[in-house]
Amino acid sequence: MLSPMIQHVSVIGLGKLGGSMAAGLASCGLNVIGVDVNRHAVEAVNAGRAPVHETGLGEMIAANQARIRATLSTEEAVLGSDLSFVIVPTPSDERGAFTLQYASFAFKAIGQALKKKPGYHVVVLTSTVLPGATRQGLLPILEKESGKKCGPDFGLCYNPEFIALGSVIRDFLNPDFYLLGQFDQRSGDRLEEIHHRVCQNNAPVQRMSLENAELAKIAVNSYVTMKISFANMLADFCEHLPGGDVDVVSDALGLDKRIGRKYLTGGFGFGGPCFPRDNVALNFMGQQLGVDSRLLKTNDDYNRSLSKRYVEKLQPHLPKGVNVAVLGLAYKPLSHVIDESPGIYLCRALSEAGYRVIGHDNLAAANAEVALKMSALVTDSLDEALKDADVVLVTTTDKSYTSLTADQLLRGRPALTVIDFWRCLKGLAADPRIRYVPIGLCRDDSGAAAGLQPLWA
Ligand SMILES: NC(=O)c1ccc[n+]([C@@H]2O[C@H](COP(=O)([O-])OP(=O)(O)OC[C@H]3O[C@@H](n4cnc5c(N)ncnc54)[C@H](O)[C@@H]3O)[C@@H](O)[C@H]2O)c1
Repeated sequence: MLSPMIQHVSVIGLGKLGGSMAAGLASCGLNVIGVDVNRHAVEAVNAGRAPVHETGLGEMIAANQARIRATLSTEEAVLGSDLSFVIVPTPSDERGAFTLQYASFAFKAIGQALKKKPGYHVVVLTSTVLPGATRQGLLPILEKESGKKCGPDFGLCYNPEFIALGSVIRDFLNPDFYLLGQFDQRSGDRLEEIHHRVCQNNAPVQRMSLENAELAKIAVNSYVTMKISFANMLADFCEHLPGGDVDVVSDALGLDKRIGRKYLTGGFGFGGPCFPRDNVALNFMGQQLGVDSRLLKTNDDYNRSLSKRYVEKLQPHLPKGVNVAVLGLAYKPLSHVIDESPGIYLCRALSEAGYRVIGHDNLAAANAEVALKMSALVTDSLDEALKDADVVLVTTTDKSYTSLTADQLLRGRPALTVIDFWRCLKGLAADPRIRYVPIGLCRDDSGAAAGLQPLWA
């Protein structure tokens, strides 16, 4: 007999990902009960406000208030829905693995609720975990607490999302593909039904075992970071070739269908709450299992070395004692997130090398101030950041930086050095008052030619 369509879902964890998922699910007509241990998040959702800062989230929750409510009680949410997404933190531990402490706590509460629930329920883990975590680490908690069996009594899936902060809702509703790890066919069928209700772009569904899906999730992120590092290495090569231009090279590479252009814009390293730690975690897993995962370790080491390496490489443009302004402290434009941010690492590396550093960010200044309190001044005022600067380093493609003119940068001073990681201020090169230093472009053709000569002697 066909099961009736699912109308009620719960979302456990209303943070950066879960908050947007709850709103997205409700916007597609599902009735959503959100759960969080943080009472402020619950209150915000019940008042029709966003529990976290994310593009369009407040508006979407307000527009769908009739179909979203939130509670502190996991039991209430499980009893009132047919399927629960779990999106709680899985922070990295000192070994680089993802801890399950929050997920275990959530699964314990779900298991206790399942004990009281007569019907079938599907539990879907969305948090990022290492392969084996869903079946080996969390399933036993559900069975122990509920006294029931996975399969006949309840279902279990692993269903991560591939989203970027700042476009979480759009990415959730329009994924490239839908990664669905299933304990069994029945669990997967129920989850796929939700996907077809929610997905706006007809994205293909990849169904597989829990373990394959867990590996596929972190493999995607790790692979993308390798592309970024590869492009950064190409940028370095280009600086050593007469006329070298990483954008020209990357555009050519990008036309090869096996490669593609995305994430090949050489410039600065990768950061944020997912990329670096997924890479580290997969390497940890490799070591545990006897898999040779040096590729991942090398990638991580290379990325972490970039800030110091740039400070050394850029010495000719950074005379001792100059004031340095770093524009861009979040790990990407339009974000307040500074986790593993290249801009933050660059400020620290400059400070360690003895420079007076002031960092600027429109959105991330408050977070950065705490992280940089021993190394740099931090401001959200461009005026303040630029007023005493001798050298300006632009680390993100934030519009407020890419639109800067020479006069706005100079502020009446006769000269200034601008180091541009993403080549977004190329027009400055023509201004005699600006010493323009683009990363990834050859800045000295004859020096580069001389450097090549011994290879062909
Ligand atoms: N943020 C991203 O870009 C992103 C992308 C892909 C995957 N993920 C993964 O999703 C997971 C969550 O990430 P996030 O960024 O949304 O985290 P977050 O810290 O922003 O949100 C997690 C929320 O879960 C709540 N919570 C913790 N324990 C709970 C419990 N037992 N019951 C109910 N609520 C609980 C917290 O109070 C918080 O509001 C992580 O595993 C992360 O790796 C995040």
